[in-house]
Amino acid sequence: MTQQYGDYQNEIYFDGLRGVLPTLPTTYPELEAGAWAALPPAVRSYVAGGAGDEHTQRANVRAFERWGLYPRVMVGATRRDLSVDLFGHTLPSPLFMAPVGVIGLCAQDGHGDLATARAAARTGVPMISSTLTADPLEQVADRFGDTPGFFQLYTPTDRDLAASLVRRAETAGFKSLVVTLDTWVTGWRPRDLGTSNFPQLRGHCLANYFTDPVFRARLAKAPEDDPGAAILEWVTIFGNPLTWDDLPWLRSLTDLPIILKGICHPEDARRARDGGVDGIYCSNHGGRQANGGLPALEALPAVAEAADGLPVLFDSGVRTGADVVKALALGATAVGIGRPYAYGLALGGEDGIVHVLRSLLAEADLIMAVDGYPTVADLTRDALVRL
Ligand SMILES: Cc1cc2nc3c(=O)[nH]c(=O)nc-3n(C[C@H](O)[C@H](O)[C@H](O)COP(=O)(O)O)c2cc1C
Repeated sequence: MTQQYGDYQNEIYFDGLRGVLPTLPTTYPELEAGAWAALPPAVRSYVAGGAGDEHTQRANVRAFERWGLYPRVMVGATRRDLSVDLFGHTLPSPLFMAPVGVIGLCAQDGHGDLATARAAARTGVPMISSTLTADPLEQVADRFGDTPGFFQLYTPTDRDLAASLVRRAETAGFKSLVVTLDTWVTGWRPRDLGTSNFPQLRGHCLANYFTDPVFRARLAKAPEDDPGAAILEWVTIFGNPLTWDDLPWLRSLTDLPIILKGICHPEDARRARDGGVDGIYCSNHGGRQANGGLPALEALPAVAEAADGLPVLFDSGVRTGADVVKALALGATAVGIGRPYAYGLALGGEDGIVHVLRSLLAEADLIMAVDGYPTVADLTRDALVRL
């Protein structure tokens, strides 16, 4: 029988009858406030902050309020099916965890990548593991259980290193490659600038580089012996400003499905599609990279149309189950969350992530029940009204 995510509320209410009250919040503001208190200042400002005065970051969230879902009655949506097909996998829900480069540091024990991978195994919600992890990608992949994992590549300027990272991801069992296009240079982030805080420059979350044979071969001394030199070497190779001419090379690196992350213009979606990618990832990096941009949700309908049947992953500003439902209705095939699971991890470790995922899915499921949309396929543009 299909899992009914809304049943999570019964668990919470029945626990209450025997005196067991929730320890983790069920609203985003409480989650954010709790994580703010739990995280060290450098990590919390890095996670919470964005580009410029963070207008785009806030606009991402507010954009969801400009759409309303029509309730449809007499549908009898007593059972819902939230499953989706993605790159040959049937996923139990349309949710995934977006790549978060410092997720390792959000855990109290500094191994947040592993906790996230375990949460993916428990929930069936895939993790897109960043290139910037505290633990090497092989150890992350080892904890996915039966849930498919995706690897996110920050393409280095050294093509051999790029090839090595992709090969390692393939060997470790990752099921697709997400190439992020909007971060070859870091955006202007006043919160981090104000405290001169850039975690990677302090040597954090570089495990994939420091364990890579191609990267190590570039160094005079091993990273363990001269971390400062290894970090400086990382600075020189990190960001590759890819152009469309690089797409055939990227394609040549792997047979895994390739998804391009950071697409917000329909023309770029068309070029990606024509270039032979397998999926489009509509995102503005949660407003962390360029301020002054449009909310990613506003970009989604035209990008989805231009994708013309290719799967469209979406993130940026998703905070509630209602947001998940709206993004699906606007054309997303799967919906990513970023900051909410980082905060769940900060507050409650692996269980905290599981709670955040289950809460989002429960709310989405119950909205689909109440409003009469029993399957993801029922969520179309016609389900929404522009407010
Ligand atoms: C702290 C932090 C680190 C991130 N690191 C990466 C990363 O390594 N790779 C990447 O493609 N996106 C990264 N992102 C962007 C997310 O994948 C996602 O696009 C963004 O979090 C969505 O915005 P939201 O969290 O406000 O919903 C990061 C986001 C945050 C908050």
